[in-house]
Amino acid sequence: MRAAVSTAYGPPEVVRVAEVPKPAATDHQVLVKVHATTVNRTDCGLRAARPFIVRLFVGLRRPRFTVLGTEFAGEVEAVGAGVTSFAVGDRVFGFSGSRFGAHAEYLAVPDDGWLATVPADLGYEEVAPSTEGAQYALTLIRTARIRRGQDVLVNGATGAIGSAAVQLLRHLGATVTATCDTDHLELVRRLGADRVIDYTAEDFTRDARTYDVVLDAVGKSSFRRCRRLLRPGGLYLSSDLGPLSQNPVLALLTPLFGGRKVRFPNPMRQDQAAVMRTVRELLSSGEFRPLIDRRYRLDQIVEAYTYVETGRKIGSVVIDV
Ligand SMILES: NC(=O)c1ccc[n+]([C@@H]2O[C@H](COP(=O)([O-])OP(=O)(O)OC[C@H]3O[C@@H](n4cnc5c(N)ncnc54)[C@H](OP(=O)(O)O)[C@@H]3O)[C@@H](O)[C@H]2O)c1
Repeated sequence: MRAAVSTAYGPPEVVRVAEVPKPAATDHQVLVKVHATTVNRTDCGLRAARPFIVRLFVGLRRPRFTVLGTEFAGEVEAVGAGVTSFAVGDRVFGFSGSRFGAHAEYLAVPDDGWLATVPADLGYEEVAPSTEGAQYALTLIRTARIRRGQDVLVNGATGAIGSAAVQLLRHLGATVTATCDTDHLELVRRLGADRVIDYTAEDFTRDARTYDVVLDAVGKSSFRRCRRLLRPGGLYLSSDLGPLSQNPVLALLTPLFGGRKVRFPNPMRQDQAAVMRTVRELLSSGEFRPLIDRRYRLDQIVEAYTYVETGRKIGSVVIDV
């Protein structure tokens, strides 16, 4: 089968499309013929080994996972002997997480993890980008126990995580203030933000309002700068380690002092099948639609990486396999 392979860490050009062995489904796995996948920030980080510390988990000198890609949508080609919840021919989508492998024509994934059937009226390219951003957003929202009527600020509402967060917060009934640049003010309002701040014209950390939760979905702020926006007991959440990789440390320290706290949850620890059920329901009801920026073919994956690394993608970049 064809796959996008990288055998060394480095810039987008280390990736090339090559023939590799086709995987087979073990007893509790489903073999998916991939129709659509994405290039996301996780793929960029792993490909470049940035931050350096990721090498401890994915290979010190060269990558252990040579085919990247976490999000996928496609058709079930084969199922293992123990699989009862999926059948050959099902249209499915999901997230391969720390196993990667989605930048390929075929992918074998566990039947009890991040896997669900595609809602009837949606195409593969529409659902492939609906797992990573949505599951990070869900994890952040659930960790903060955000409720109807709470005031939440989302910094970076046009990224994959931010655009999912705004939609899911609207669905919950929170009051959402969101930041983006001038060109995307209307788009973010349409996603469901009650109030939009143009970050090119205004420093949101100087905003006169205060919030129950500040959710940085783009890693461009810090707890120190956002502290004054938080009400007593308020929470600062981030999808990113932060400028000095301080967010995990602050998440351990700030609860010791009471008052305003940092939370840095790990989405990999969630009940994967339950997350996929929620995402599927939100897609079926139309409450959530992933934003799609550009589409590329698998043989254009170097261009896709180069674009994602500009840090300016709107929602997700889809690869037609
Ligand atoms: N914890 C993890 O394992 C994990 C996994 C995935 C992603 N992440 C992190 O989560 C963050 C978001 O990733 P993502 O894929 O959702 O999106 P992304 O590619 O990082 O976000 C791009 C968007 O951010 C907006 N943006 C850029 N600078 C901004 C600023 N100063 N203020 C507000 N918005 C700004 C851009 O919109 P405009 O054109 O409007 O500026 C663009 O739409 C990244 O930092 C990524 O590293 C973490």
